[in-house]
This record gives sequence, structure tokens and C-alpha cells, in this order.
Amino acid sequence: MAYKAPRGTRDILPEEAARWFQIESFFRALCARYGFGEIRTPLFEHTELFTRSVGEESDIVSKEMYTFQDRGERSLTLRPEGTAAVVRAYLEHGMVSGPQPVKLFYCGPMFRYDRPQAGRYRQFHQFGLETFGAAGPAADYEIVALTWEFISVSLGITAVDLELNSVGCPSCRPAYRAALLAYMQPRRASFCPDCRRRFTANPLRVLDCKDPGCREAAREAPRIGGSLCPECGGHFAALQELLASSGIPFQINPLLVRGLDYYTRTAFEVVSREAQTQGSLAGGGRYDNLVEQCGGSPTPGVGVALGVERLILAAGGKAAPPREACPVYVAYTGDSLAAQAQALAREIRAWGMPAEAELMGRSLKGQMKFAGRRGYRFVCILGEKEHARGKIIWRDMAGGGQEELAPEELRERLESSRPGSGGV
Ligand code: HAM
Repeated sequence: MAYKAPRGTRDILPEEAARWFQIESFFRALCARYGFGEIRTPLFEHTELFTRSVGEESDIVSKEMYTFQDRGERSLTLRPEGTAAVVRAYLEHGMVSGPQPVKLFYCGPMFRYDRPQAGRYRQFHQFGLETFGAAGPAADYEIVALTWEFISVSLGITAVDLELNSVGCPSCRPAYRAALLAYMQPRRASFCPDCRRRFTANPLRVLDCKDPGCREAAREAPRIGGSLCPECGGHFAALQELLASSGIPFQINPLLVRGLDYYTRTAFEVVSREAQTQGSLAGGGRYDNLVEQCGGSPTPGVGVALGVERLILAAGGKAAPPREACPVYVAYTGDSLAAQAQALAREIRAWGMPAEAELMGRSLKGQMKFAGRRGYRFVCILGEKEHARGKIIWRDMAGGGQEELAPEELRERLESSRPGSGGV
């Protein structure tokens, strides 16, 4: 039987993996420039961490988690997102008592039992940032600015919008929630089944539901902007000023509430305008009560996560590195030279050039055909006669020419052919 990767997962083959590596390197470089340190948390956590933080009524917890019992009968869950685990680690390692803010980034797979389609997977990858201990709008600004710089400058993705909203805090949200409930109650029959179910627990979710019935109901609904307390209003205004003064374009979207329950004040997304990409490339916001909810003392936090598969899709060919072609192939004739071929490849690598030697024991004709198909730039041939005279045959696959070289000449030739050497 031929096995296939499980639905919603995929293999990343060498050509694409080079692109992943490049994009991750860009992200890491930018994080270093902004002073974020890397954190790596386990791929699974105690289930309760997610139910408490992301929220029982959220789609993620109610429908999408990969939850299992281990042999010790603990309920564990493959992480559906990174924030909860980073909060857990922040508390577990006492980072709360060190100098604040603590600024962390992560890269890695997340797991959600979602309906797979282009840009939506069951195992997908996120780059994420979390800043703890900074309550002011400058911390939100830094998260949004890094996200924007990464997407628009590092990756050159320009058909995107930055959408911004404030979802208030526990002191102003209840009044808004009550106003929204009163407005929505008579329209409840037109909601999708999900919104009908979660309406009383979380009426705000109707606002960014994609279902046409919910959209229609949300069109004229009261906006949260009018209900923000002076502190939330001031925070939101200051963030907008910071973004405007650094030339980062944004749009206020009063319907943006995000699907995770932990947000307070700032909520934002970077959304693609391209039809073939799943809308949201990145999403995040502030979560000033989450650390306390997870058992710590009150500590503000703000962060974001970016979907790597979606970024790669949206970046198209722009971020593609040149294919890492291995420029030198070492071929040989006669079994007695197999070990010498390996030794020569080793030596060329020690000179700093990628090189490979024949592994299949093919005829010279077969080796040359292979080297042509794989696109090697140069082939060194160890022939029995030439080898006896201390010479190597050098073939430039682009020019077709062939000559005999001594090992020192070979090194010179390879060095002068390096990109930027002014040679071939
Ligand atoms: P999220 O909006 O659930 O937020 O996910 C962030 C990003 O992950 C999305 O914008 C999207 O690009 C990507 N993503 C989500 N689900 C999938 C999927 N099934 N397939 C492919 N990509 C996907 C969070 O996860 C929060 N933890 C973000 C955050 C960090 N908030 C504060 N700090």
C-alpha cells in the first residue's frame, strides 16, 4: 500500500525548503535587529492551558484541537497556537521577575483540525512575537512595525492591508457587549449555526464571521469605538499616531475582533488583497489579562503570529533564492578511483565550494548524462590514465570545453569561478 501524508499536512521538498530557510533567516535577522530572543516550547502542552487561554467557545478550542491522552492518562494537546505556551514558559521560568520588557520570538509548526484548502492546513507554521511587561502603545507599535517591515520590505509583499481595531478591556467591553446583544438578539435567526451557539457567550464573534447572514446582521451593528473607556481610547489613538508618524499605512476595521478570547485593546491583522491567498497573513494584538489568567501576577502582553505557508504563497517568486546548485560533480572511470573521487570532492568542499562525487557506480557516459540533467556547472573527471600522470580532467558544462589540470590549477580555476570573483 502506498502511504500518503495525512490530510492537511504536506512535505516540504528541497527546492521549497531552501525558500523556507531563506524566509526564516530574514525573520530571525529582523527579530535580532529589534532585540527579540528566541524561545522554543514543546509541540504539546496540557490541554487546560489552551482551553483557559484561547477560550472554551473559540473555534480553536471547540472544534480544532488535536487532543489525546498519553499513557499516564494526562490530557495533552498539540499546540494550536504559540501564545499560551510562551505565557506558560514566561511564568514557569520566572521571567516575570527579571528586567522587563521580555521580548520573545518563535518559529514552528502549529496544529488545527481545520478544513484544508490552499493556505489552510492542519499542520501549519507560524513565526510569532510576544512582548511582556510593557503596557504602553509603543510595545504594540513595535510588534506591528516589525510585522509590517517583514511582510512589506523583507518579503516584498505589497498587496496587503494592515487592519486595526481596539476590542476594549474588562471595564468597557461589558457595556458594549450588552449593547451588541440587545441589537443582535432580534437578528439571531439569520446567524450561522456557530454564531447562534456562541452568541450569548461571545456576541462579538458575529462581527467578523464570514457567513453572509452574520455579515448582514453586523453591517449596522453598534461599533465598539463609541464604547471604549478613556484609557482604551487613549491607547488606541496613541498607537495610530505612532504608526502614522512612521509612515505605516493602516485602516481601522471596527468589525475586527479576532477568534481567540484573550485579546484586550489592540487587535490587528495583515490581510492579503490577492484572491488566491487565504485572507489573513498575520494576526495579533494585546492580551493584558492572559498572564494573570494563566496563574501569574497581572502583566501586560502584546504579540503577533504570521502564517508561513501563506507568506510564501503571497510572496510568489519574489523571495525565491537562486537554486542552490551544487557546482562541481566529480566523475570517475574504473572502480579503483571511487575512493579518490570521494577524496577530491572532500578537498573541493574544504576549499569552500559545494561538490559531490558519483555514488552509483555508473559508466562515464551515464555520469555525464546525469551531471547534464542535474545542471552541474563543472565536472572533474578522474580517468585512470590522467590520474596516473597526476592530472584531472576539467569540463566546463556551459562552454563544453575540456582540459587537463594539475590539482593546484584546479583550485585556482574553481576559485576564479566563484560568483563575485570576476572570473567565469
Ligand atoms: P491566529 O490569527 O489564529 O493568531 O493565527 C495567526 C496566523 O496564523 C494567521 O493570520 C494565519 O496566517 C496563520 N494560520 C492560522 N491558521 C492557519 C491554518 N490552518 N493554516 C495555515 N495558516 C494558518 C494566533 O495564533 C495568535 N497566537 C497570534 C498572537 C500572538 N496574538 C498575540 N500573540
